[in-house]
Amino acid sequence: MPLEYNKRTHDCGALRGSDVGKTVLLSGWVDNFRDHGGMVFIDLRDRGGITQLRFNPDTDPAAHGVARTLRSEYVICIRGEVVSRGTNVNPKMPTGEVEVAVHEIDLLSKSKTPPFQITDDVETNEDLRLEYRVLDLRRPRMRNAMMLRHKITKTIRDYFDRNGFLDIETPILCKSTPEGARDFLVPSRVHNGSFYALPQSPQIFKQLLMMAGLDRYMQVARCFRDEDQRADRQLEFTQIDLEMAFVQPEDVMRHVEACLAEVAQVALGLKVPLPMPRISYAEAMAKYGKDAPDIRYEMTIKDLSVFAAKTDFKVFREPLDAGGVVRCIVVPGGAAMTRKETDGLTEEIKGIGAGGLPLVKVAEEGGKVVLQTGIAKFLDAEPIKSELLSTSGAKPGDLIFFAAGSEANVCKWLAWLRGTVAERRGMIPKDTWAFCWVVDFPLFGWDDDSKNIFSMHHPFTSPKDEDLHLMHLDSPNPAPASDLLKVRAKAYDVVLNGVELGGGSIRIHRSDVQAKIFQLLGISPEEAKLKFEYLIEALQYGAPPHGGLALGLDRIVMLFGGFSSIREVIAFPKNAKAIDPLTKAPSEVSAEQLKELGIRLAP
Ligand code: AMO
Repeated sequence: MPLEYNKRTHDCGALRGSDVGKTVLLSGWVDNFRDHGGMVFIDLRDRGGITQLRFNPDTDPAAHGVARTLRSEYVICIRGEVVSRGTNVNPKMPTGEVEVAVHEIDLLSKSKTPPFQITDDVETNEDLRLEYRVLDLRRPRMRNAMMLRHKITKTIRDYFDRNGFLDIETPILCKSTPEGARDFLVPSRVHNGSFYALPQSPQIFKQLLMMAGLDRYMQVARCFRDEDQRADRQLEFTQIDLEMAFVQPEDVMRHVEACLAEVAQVALGLKVPLPMPRISYAEAMAKYGKDAPDIRYEMTIKDLSVFAAKTDFKVFREPLDAGGVVRCIVVPGGAAMTRKETDGLTEEIKGIGAGGLPLVKVAEEGGKVVLQTGIAKFLDAEPIKSELLSTSGAKPGDLIFFAAGSEANVCKWLAWLRGTVAERRGMIPKDTWAFCWVVDFPLFGWDDDSKNIFSMHHPFTSPKDEDLHLMHLDSPNPAPASDLLKVRAKAYDVVLNGVELGGGSIRIHRSDVQAKIFQLLGISPEEAKLKFEYLIEALQYGAPPHGGLALGLDRIVMLFGGFSSIREVIAFPKNAKAIDPLTKAPSEVSAEQLKELGIRLAP
């Protein structure tokens, strides 16, 4: 009689000392095989963990005979008795107190030799892992990632359900939703020459749901953006998307932070103090050089523009006179950095557009503070030196890195430098979880290429009431860019350890303001009608004030799981070249399919 594998009594992680004496039925994969001169030991693995099996040739010769033919990744079902391991307890395994003395075994399925070992401690090429993802996902680390993802998603769903949010699905085949990336297009067979776009986010649909009166929506939403792949970006990814009616930013933020605190509690047993700190965009850029600040450590950016204007040093003066800024970071104890380290940083920062990396070391000689190496000779005279030390806060033993140029570039260079130096010098405290909100984003940014403003978040974001006058809504002429760039938005991002987890805003609910924003963004009335007529129309039938946010689920799981890429927490991701090595997507399609779609490929 074959064993009834559908009647497993336990999973492979469940048995403990208290189960000794029980007869059990287990199924799983052969993880490890050891033949100890007669006695055979097998580690049996399933989703729950690993249990050691023992096959005795004297008491159970038939089962022992089968066991000797087994290889890694064979699938088996066994029946046996739980016995104590006596003095051979393995305290590293949850099931390490016991083993199962096997009386019966069925071989359910054989396996070819896997292309890599199914363990966590073997480094394997990522493309090979993705090609054999089925095997890769059997590794404990990957299995735990999938289980953590489930747990986090469930916690989030439960939170919003408890708070009255409706889970509503929005279309995947839709008209383009502008979130700043390229669309994926799907050709229509019925309407040759017309295309659906895959949603970059459910943005407009969730706004329409608020106008429909379905206040409080949430969705675990798949989004698609044709952009360059990075460690924290995939072509398709998952958002926790939400929207609420009759709210101000604080109402949305309060729910999101409470939800994230629950996730942190469930995933890490962590108590996150609420409310999370709020930092304005202006402060984030000034102190951290980026809008997703890592506040786990100090080494903040200091502005030296007033000081630099008093020097004759060309490297500072020329950018300043051209309207730029001079800023620095002070590396505590950085005077001990070697020439090799600082030269390496100089080469790397040139790679992101800096001309070089001016620096000085601060030392003490004969009871006097002195500047050494780098650009010391340009700054060592008094009162310049003292002013530099007091403005920057540098002390003997420290190193000062300078950056001079346009504000945007200086922010970019110093943000990179701050993160890189902190990482390399071990300045980032381990197991620290620093959440913050970044608020008061500018509504618009300036695009130097098109010489026009663009939406920092998306074109549906509401300006702050107190900045509305800067938009000259009543004037037939567009407001000057200098005024528009001062308008702040009712937008907010939530950041964890320097990674943007989510972003949202209060939306425009007045059709005249929305039409004006399209106009300011250089979208002609004809184009606006073509693309957004349904939104403008809906706004004219009683739109409630509304707002929301979307969290990147993949990024949340990545950070809480301690992974460095979101590919590790997605079951079947694309690789860095946007290919799925498993299915080989994207792939060519048949001439027949193309013909049906009315598509001819360019030669
Ligand atoms: P946003 O574009 O900021 O906002 O996206 C929200 C969050 O989604 C995640 N994310 C990504 N994750 C993985 N791969 C990507 N390519 C990717 N792009 C974005 C990030 C980001 O913070 N509709 C608005 C939200 C709103 O206003 O309510 C939106 O999509 O974690």
